[in-house]
Amino acid sequence: MTAADTLSAAPALDALTRIDTTRIFVGGAWRAPDGGRTLPVEDPSTGRVIGAIGQGTAADVDAAVAAAQGALAGDWGALTATDRGRILTLMAARVEARAEDLALIETLDVGKPLDQSRRDSAALARYLEFYGGAADKLMGTTIPYQPGYAVYTLREPHGVCGIIIPWNYPMQILGRAVAAALAAGNAVVLKPAEDASLSALVFAQIAAEAGLPAGALNVVTGLGAEVGAALSAHPGVHHLSFTGSVATGAAIQRSAAAHVVPLTLELGGKSPQIVFDDADLDRAVPVLVTSCLQNAGQTCSAASRVLVQRGVYDAVRARMAAIYDGLVAGPARDSRDLGPLVSARQRRLVQGFIDRGQAELAVAGQGRIHPDADPAGHFVRPTLFAEVPPDHDLAQQEIFGPVQVLMPFDDEAHALRLANGTDYGLVAGVWTRDGGRQLRMAAALDCGQVFVNNYGAGGGVELPFGGTGRSGHGREKGFEALYGFTRVKTVAIHHG
Ligand code: NAI
Ligand code: MG
Repeated sequence: MTAADTLSAAPALDALTRIDTTRIFVGGAWRAPDGGRTLPVEDPSTGRVIGAIGQGTAADVDAAVAAAQGALAGDWGALTATDRGRILTLMAARVEARAEDLALIETLDVGKPLDQSRRDSAALARYLEFYGGAADKLMGTTIPYQPGYAVYTLREPHGVCGIIIPWNYPMQILGRAVAAALAAGNAVVLKPAEDASLSALVFAQIAAEAGLPAGALNVVTGLGAEVGAALSAHPGVHHLSFTGSVATGAAIQRSAAAHVVPLTLELGGKSPQIVFDDADLDRAVPVLVTSCLQNAGQTCSAASRVLVQRGVYDAVRARMAAIYDGLVAGPARDSRDLGPLVSARQRRLVQGFIDRGQAELAVAGQGRIHPDADPAGHFVRPTLFAEVPPDHDLAQQEIFGPVQVLMPFDDEAHALRLANGTDYGLVAGVWTRDGGRQLRMAAALDCGQVFVNNYGAGGGVELPFGGTGRSGHGREKGFEALYGFTRVKTVAIHHG
């Protein structure tokens, strides 16, 4: 059976989700949102409405925060770290058992090619496994101090964590944030993106079935300006975690400041791939392309800039152009090179960049849209622009679509000026066989992750991830995330 057959033979959306998706999950129970309104769920491959979610309100956020506080004071707060880890491990197994349903749901809701949605449901299970195993290995320290004192630190949960996630990798981002927050002993109020809430709702059901105590995880769907804003301004929330746009992240940081609440922001980037003359081009070139086009370029860490040393510039340009000319965008269920963008709005934004590039820049390569693609789907043609001036908008702004820019550089210092020459600092890729240069570049790049002779290292859940500059602050993933979801208390006992 092909992926397409699987999907066309798949049950309807409500059979896949097995829940009423117009309800929200608060205090371990499903209920209609305050006011009973709904928002449409759209399939980006067809532009058609395929379901509905609840449109929560500030009153729902109040109820969810109260439920989270209740869980901390009750069953959830009373569990040992080991028992929290066991529940997360059970959740991992249940996500694995539902992995295909979750992947199909994501493909319908977000327009993500099915093979990529399958990787996302596997990643969600893996986050639960990793943080389930880590829960009882998170510990404080003892500190040598003056005679007569015993001093130690405790790592305590913040309390109620407000987690606001975007639509591009719903399962991966909720996995890395929610699993780490719960492992550390927090209770969570999760607000998924209005364009992609279904997998978060199914996840809540899975959590309940795995025995997560009521109120430890609450999911309130709805609009950012309504539910997201209420959550980030709520005085009962002790920590905020946000992934999304710079403008929304800055607004959330202002809200958090009013209550002096700590937060983690992951805000995207304009990440470079830096290719030196001595690079292994056979290995590098395919990765240069996929590192941007994964999820149709709707990836915070998309390598949207390719900087190439002059000695291999023409060769890299020609090889990338040949790949671009063969790329095909098609319905998400067909798992082609890319699917549609998530919404008509995102398509308009990205097409605007492509139109502008076509008017002002050299098009080096361009893919096509498959004839099977529904004209009402949100497809764009993946496009590679060459010799792009470093100060051009297409070289500076996050496009969040399948658009890459190529630029030549002379030497290491020039490469660094270009690489560090945007407001962002999320990821950088460096391709060189020169060991000394690998170390110099890794030290001098202004960003949160450097990948040498690879990009993303397979996305391992173990690897801390976050940005500098307008890419945000704080780190998610890996053990590091557990530090972010805890606060340190120092205890000094005088016994002398
Ligand atoms: P957004 O940042 O507005 O939305 C992300 C999340 O924030 C959603 O859950 C949304 O409901 C919520 N939100 C929106 N307004 C809010 C507010 N006032 N208070 C609290 N929460 C709020 O991003 P959007 O509009 O969907 O995408 C626009 C651009 O943002 C994209 O083109 C891309 O450049 C960037 N983006 C970056 C992402 C990343 O992974 N870093 C993910 C999604 C978008
Ligand atoms: Mg949708």
